[in-house]
Amino acid sequence: NVNQIQNVLTHALRLKNTSTAYLAPGSPRPINSRLVRGVPPQSLSHSSIALLFSKRSTRTRVSAETAAVLLGGRALFLGREDIQLGVNESARDTARVLGGMCQGIFARVGDHSEIEELAEHSPVPVINALSSLWHPTQILADLLTLHEEASFQVGQPIKAKTAFAVLPEIKPLTITYLGDSTNVLHDMLVTFPRLGHKMQVATPNDPQYRCPTPVWNRVKELGCDSGITWVEDPREAVKDADVVITDTWISMGQEAEKEQRLKAFQGYQVTEQLCREGGAKPDWKFLHCLPRKKDEVDDEVFYGPRSLVFPEADNRKWTIMALFDMLFGHWQIYDPKV
Ligand code: CP
Ligand code: NVA
Repeated sequence: NVNQIQNVLTHALRLKNTSTAYLAPGSPRPINSRLVRGVPPQSLSHSSIALLFSKRSTRTRVSAETAAVLLGGRALFLGREDIQLGVNESARDTARVLGGMCQGIFARVGDHSEIEELAEHSPVPVINALSSLWHPTQILADLLTLHEEASFQVGQPIKAKTAFAVLPEIKPLTITYLGDSTNVLHDMLVTFPRLGHKMQVATPNDPQYRCPTPVWNRVKELGCDSGITWVEDPREAVKDADVVITDTWISMGQEAEKEQRLKAFQGYQVTEQLCREGGAKPDWKFLHCLPRKKDEVDDEVFYGPRSLVFPEADNRKWTIMALFDMLFGHWQIYDPKV
């Protein structure tokens, strides 16, 4: 729920502040990072997290492995070639066995039903690291990045000694998404409207590239549909946008459809020209979960001053670390007055 999302983001910011020694050289310092330097809570000390990944990953895998190290624990990468799952052993048995040895499971799967099966049979918490329908941890990083963007912040400037435990408040945003109805978009649809942001989506008018029924049912169940406009014309969708987002047109597992997809998404590439002609706000920002191909966004936008894609990628680590600490470790309550 919304409170849990805010808690994870606040906790991610605390962990980031505590770990400034581990940020990339030259990367922006988090708000008030001078307050605390050192080592984050060692809540995963002597604990192990199983990374059960049946698909490729750079950010999610490395975030998880490095986050586990900072929390004093260990992540075990279990790729599809490494373990018995899928060849000699069922998901049900794998979940029970891993849960008997590890304190948590972080799983990247093909069909979404696979993660549900793992969660049903695992004795320890299971976090979805991407499935056919959802990519929930990505959206936490996206949100943290939006909250850190100074031009979106409202209210009192964050002051020393209070900032440590405070997530900067941001104005309600108009967030545009162009391209394919992917797992990444689906989590935005069920999250952003509940946080007061408006979503404007443009996809080709073909059922194959529109929201799958189980996802749209969930969107409606959560009352998010009233905060979403869905159109075909990308120019219409970028009107008044504060943020423009896209994802690959060819998700993992769809490689055979490459030719047909490149044709279907012509006109959906995020460019300065498209956003200018469609009437996006003059200082719109750009997000992309990565990995990126040039089809969906050109170099000018991707490497330009509007692009928040690399802070967004860095934030995968702090948000995944917050989840690990809260779900698998023993979340330490910070005293904001300290
Ligand atoms: N954004 C994201 O999930 O990237 P990876 O596939 O590299 O983990
Ligand atoms: N939609 C993409 C996201 C990659 C992080 C995919 O599923 O491949």
